[in-house]
Amino acid sequence: MLIATNLSKEFILKEGNGLFRKKTIKNKQAVNDVSIKIEPGKIVGLLGINGAGKTTTIKMLAGLIEPTCGTIFIDDIDVIKENKKIKKFINLISGGERNIYWRLTAQENLEYFGALYGVEKKVLNERIKAVLETVALTESKDIPVERYSKGMKQRLQIARGLINNPQYIFLDEPTLGLDINIAKELRTYVKKLATVEKKGVLLTTHYIAEAEELCDYLYIIDKGYIIAQGTLSELKENLATKIQILITVDRLTESIKNEIDALFTNELIEILYDEEDNKKTIRMIAQKNYTCDIIKCLSSFDILVLEMKLEEPNLEEVLLKVLAGGV
Ligand SMILES: Nc1ncnc2c1ncn2[C@@H]1O[C@H](COP(=O)(O)OP(=O)(O)O)[C@@H](O)[C@H]1O
Ligand SMILES: [Mg+2]
Repeated sequence: MLIATNLSKEFILKEGNGLFRKKTIKNKQAVNDVSIKIEPGKIVGLLGINGAGKTTTIKMLAGLIEPTCGTIFIDDIDVIKENKKIKKFINLISGGERNIYWRLTAQENLEYFGALYGVEKKVLNERIKAVLETVALTESKDIPVERYSKGMKQRLQIARGLINNPQYIFLDEPTLGLDINIAKELRTYVKKLATVEKKGVLLTTHYIAEAEELCDYLYIIDKGYIIAQGTLSELKENLATKIQILITVDRLTESIKNEIDALFTNELIEILYDEEDNKKTIRMIAQKNYTCDIIKCLSSFDILVLEMKLEEPNLEEVLLKVLAGGV
């Protein structure tokens, strides 16, 4: 497990050269007190708008920049103090990266990056075979990358990120600037990294839908602070956003209404009855999904459920609320 605790990063900006312009020093607190956990086989998302502190956080986790304070451990290895040791365990892929050699083939690129990571020749050949297979590039491995489609180039980036067989893989905005179809394809490979390859994946994104589709657990970062975290359903539940259950029934009497009201007395649950055009509906608005309870209650009165609809808030609504300080 990767555990980062209370990470902060302050950048010191020097402006002017002190000769013609007065030298000024400004501090920029990019990340504040961020704690993150990543389990193998899970995709963790760091979601936030531009400038929120995502890249700074992911670079600290990857051991590329040193935090101003805080600790990062991968099992019992200290990422900050034993920086060289961790090269074996992690890899970082940034969206829109240009570090692949276009004149070389996929095979040659991977041989090069494998050597940079000090992967032993014999192991490397096997590894290249496996990662090419993972990203479905085996058949095109001997074609120069410049002849690849955009999607193939992105898949090669993933293969590059796998060349040292890392336990944890960090993806910084992996679908940034990609066409919808290519982004979609890439997401299936990202999913595979966790589910099939059992890597711990940390993904940063400012696309809410991407986080919603991929992540097992989410951290929402804003102005360098984690302002909310949880699984998608936890976030939706905890952030005081209401779920609506709409149930159409065959009959509804005053006494049944009273019984239902008596059962759900919690003040956070709102129940409305609607009897229009012979259509009898119960509308339940609550923070939790009480579908089971209400169905049980209705069936105890022998009431037939004709139709049921659940309207859950989407993550976008939840986040807009959080970012607007509404929670
Ligand atoms: N090397 C740096 N020097 C000074 N400020 C920086 C540096 N890198 C990032 N920042 C600032 O820190 C904040 C967070 O940046 P970043 O982590 O890149 O955000 P994100 O990846 O979420 O867009 C921004 O205000 C950015 O301008
Ligand atoms: Mg960034």
